Amino acid sequence: MSDFREVAIDLRPATPSDLNLLSHWDSQPHVIASDPNDDWAWEIELNRNPSWREQLIAEIDGRPIGFIQIIDPALEDSNYWGDVESNLRAIDIWIGEESDLGKGYGTKMMQLALAKCFTDPLVIAVLVDPLASNIRAHRFYERFGFRFVEQRWFDRDNCFVFRLNRTDWNQKT
Ligand SMILES: CC(C)(COP(=O)(O)OP(=O)(O)OC[C@H]1O[C@@H](n2cnc3c(N)ncnc32)[C@H](O)[C@@H]1OP(=O)(O)O)[C@@H](O)C(=O)NCCC(=O)NCCS
Repeated sequence: MSDFREVAIDLRPATPSDLNLLSHWDSQPHVIASDPNDDWAWEIELNRNPSWREQLIAEIDGRPIGFIQIIDPALEDSNYWGDVESNLRAIDIWIGEESDLGKGYGTKMMQLALAKCFTDPLVIAVLVDPLASNIRAHRFYERFGFRFVEQRWFDRDNCFVFRLNRTDWNQKT
C-alpha cells in the first residue's frame, strides 16, 4: 500500500494570537529577502478587519506554514497601488519556515487564494508585485498564468507587476 497522501492545506483568518508567529516569520532571511522594506505593523493590523482585505494563515493539519493577504487594491486605505481599476484583487504570499519551501505548499496556497478571489463574479483579475530581483517568484506566478505587466517602484522596492486575468486562470495548475 502506498503511504502517499495528498497534503491538505487550509486557509483560516489570521487573528491577534498569530502575532508571535508572524513576527517570527518576518525574521526569516528568505522572507526578508522577498520584502525587505515593508513593516506589516501586525500589532495594529491583526486587530482590524477592513472589508477590502483578508489576512490568512495556511495550515497543514493545524500546523501554520504560511501567510496570504488578499486586498482590493482600489479600496486599500494606504493607496499602495495608486490609481487602479475596480474589481481587482492583489495577493501577497510567503511560506514562514525555510524548511517548508519548495514542497508544493505555496502552489496549493495560491490555488486556494485564487479560487477565493475568483469566487466573486465581479473580480476580473488578480495582481502580484514581486521584487524585480525575485526571479523564482516570477516563475512561480507565471505557472498560474500570470503575465508581466510593468516594472514599477513601490516606495523603495523595484518590483515587477504581474496580472492574472480571469480568462487565463487555470484551476488545475
Ligand atoms: C514563493 C513561495 C510562496 C512559493 O511557495 P513554495 O511552496 O516554495 O513553492 P512550490 O514548492 O509550490 O513551487 C516551487 C516554486 O516556488 C518558487 N520558489 C521556491 N523557493 C523560492 C524562494 N525562496 N523564493 C521565491 N520563490 C521560490 C520557485 O518558482 C519554485 O520553482 P523552481 O524550483 O522551479 O524555481 C515561497 O517560495 C516563498 O515563500 N518564498 C519566499 C517569499 C516570496 O518570495 N514570496 C513571494 C513574494 S512576491
